[in-house]
Amino acid sequence: MPIYKLALLHGDGIGPEVIQEAVKVLKVVGAAYTFEFTTTAGLIGGIAIDETGTPLPESTIELCRQSDAVLLGAVGGPKWDTTDPDKPRPEQGLLGIRKELELFANLRPVKIYEPLKDASSLKPEIITGIDIMVVRELTGGIYFGERARRGNRAFDTCDYSKEEIERLLKAAFELAQKRRGVLHSVDKANVLESSRLWREVAIEMSGDYPEVELHHMLVDNCAMQLVRDPKQFDVIATGNMFGDILSDEASMLSGSLGMLASASLGATGLALYEPSHGSAPDIAGQGIANPIATIASTALMLKYSFNLDDAAAAIDGAIDTVLSQGWRTQDIMQAGGKLIGTQEMGDKIAASVTANMAQF
Ligand code: IPM
Ligand code: MG
Repeated sequence: MPIYKLALLHGDGIGPEVIQEAVKVLKVVGAAYTFEFTTTAGLIGGIAIDETGTPLPESTIELCRQSDAVLLGAVGGPKWDTTDPDKPRPEQGLLGIRKELELFANLRPVKIYEPLKDASSLKPEIITGIDIMVVRELTGGIYFGERARRGNRAFDTCDYSKEEIERLLKAAFELAQKRRGVLHSVDKANVLESSRLWREVAIEMSGDYPEVELHHMLVDNCAMQLVRDPKQFDVIATGNMFGDILSDEASMLSGSLGMLASASLGATGLALYEPSHGSAPDIAGQGIANPIATIASTALMLKYSFNLDDAAAAIDGAIDTVLSQGWRTQDIMQAGGKLIGTQEMGDKIAASVTANMAQF
């Protein structure tokens, strides 16, 4: 029986609560699909600043490097909010681990859970059947370019090399090949030089993927099209900052940011899985956060890191079942349902995995 080594980086706010539920579900899935895993916790974010003075201690990086996969909760909170460039910020921990592990491709699948289609702020006929994969570049662009504060002036630089664009677009073209064959490369080529390079690289590469239909779309137009007609999208590939913004927007198609999973894949084979939402400090510690994004992220882990597609499908199926039974955390109550907390949601999804297994 394989034994996988998982690094757990709980982080701040609701991070520890949602990780706990994800691990609960993984244990049940492991028992059903015959794999085992060990977990080792590492510090990241605000709690790491409090305990060690830095948002990303060396020991955390080392732990991740020695693991088979990383599961991360969320970082940040008002306690560590500062505009002082000399003070450490929790987010530096997250950006740092992405960079250290070379996790350049961030996959954020957006799908509609049928029972939740009334929870979206968009009309059901606009969102029914959508299935979008946002592929966000994660280790370059304006997040990592040169920046400085000079007196009353400050700047951030958006910097991309051809190689960085190529490896991201390669991942996106390959995903599109396996999906419905449509790729939207999103940029701001009417203004930004880095976007013009991005577009040139996309055009150059498209010859290698004749079966993929490549579209170029400006990011402002994409933001509009996502709410006007989201069904036109299959794979969206874009830079770090545009991807950050568009994926939050796209998550609302499915009703809540609490539903959006993510996988960050890299150059080394080691990958990191995390919900796309933040640490939600306003509801931390109350037991009301939605753990589904994190649980669905572990399904991505089983699929992308361990090739356990059946076990991943069991998690996705259990989430569907529990939602169709009407169970809801508070963030997805818009269309009614039976309100439960974080732990109950984890319990129900875990129980549903077991029940579904028992049918075979
Ligand atoms: C995300 C988050 C992070 C980002 C923050 C917390 C630094 O918004 O993962 O989307 O901007 O990448
Ligand atoms: Mg974000």
